[in-house]
Amino acid sequence: MTPELSDLRQSIIAQLPKAELHLHIEGSLEPEMMFMLAQRNMVEIPYTSVEEIRKAYAFSNLQDFLDIYYQGMAVLCSEQDFFDLTYAYLERAQSDCVRHVEIFFDPQGHTSRGVPFDSAIGGILRALEEGEKQFKISHRLIMCFLRHLDEASAFETLSQAEPWLDKIAGVGLDSSELGHPPSKFARVFALARQKGLKLVAHAGEEGPPGYVWEALDHLHVDRIDHGNRALEDEALIQRIVAEKKTLTVCPLSNLKLCVVSNLVDSPVKAMLDAGIKVTINSDDPSYFGGYINANFAAVADAQNLSIDNLKTLARNSFTGSFLSDEHIAQHIAAVDLVMDEFC
Ligand code: HPA
Ligand code: ZN
Repeated sequence: MTPELSDLRQSIIAQLPKAELHLHIEGSLEPEMMFMLAQRNMVEIPYTSVEEIRKAYAFSNLQDFLDIYYQGMAVLCSEQDFFDLTYAYLERAQSDCVRHVEIFFDPQGHTSRGVPFDSAIGGILRALEEGEKQFKISHRLIMCFLRHLDEASAFETLSQAEPWLDKIAGVGLDSSELGHPPSKFARVFALARQKGLKLVAHAGEEGPPGYVWEALDHLHVDRIDHGNRALEDEALIQRIVAEKKTLTVCPLSNLKLCVVSNLVDSPVKAMLDAGIKVTINSDDPSYFGGYINANFAAVADAQNLSIDNLKTLARNSFTGSFLSDEHIAQHIAAVDLVMDEFC
């Protein structure tokens, strides 16, 4: 690859309007904010410096990361903490030309520590609404169930969400995948669907292709988060393509959690080539070393993505979103306008 091509890609990536569809807001907690909130709330954390925190972010699998991630979120206590966290993410997203976000939050990670559901969601929503005014970034909020907990806890969480349902776009499924197949949550997802919520689930990050089948057949998801291992099953690929399901891939996350050993092996290019509607996302950017443009840039260079590939990825991020058709069309027109300048 020539340096010119890499530079051209970087400037396209920087200017491309894009949506982020796979972002855990608790995973955007930067070490500096972790220290600030630990002091504000008098919560002890097992680190003495930002450098020490960054050094601790060396993971060999998903569970390694989740242990640190749940420990990190212990500094989030008040409604204002959730506001500050979310607002900081939106400010950062704006600088990456993000125009729309669909963010996850993990209420059980907070209610289990005695933080009221309303404090978490109240602060996040207040920041999303303020961010829409300040940064012109539209949003959807997705409430995730922690799959290492039981079905009863997920039902309890859905009932806590009842007063907020007009502000929640959908439910998702995250946390430790192996040993916790999607079918464990079929009944709570069915109830969420009855309530008019969109459905997404992490599947095929570490779990086998069978978990992706289950997310489709038992949960009836609108989107698959990660979905890497779907590529191991030709019939599954055909199903995903036929149903135009979006897969929200997270390249730097995959690298940090050893889902791939090198970005050359990221599923992005293979999915594009197979006709799968893939998007690029940052997952937990504070823990994985990069926000959305860094994810785009790293995979574009590693896999020598074409200008057309970048355009497809940006378009997919909007067509795969839960925005209205009218808003999607406006964003696609904006993507095409930027691309016209480069072609
Ligand atoms: N996978 C599963 N659960 C998660 C993740 C992830 O990448 N990030 C935060 N919770
Ligand atoms: Zn995730």
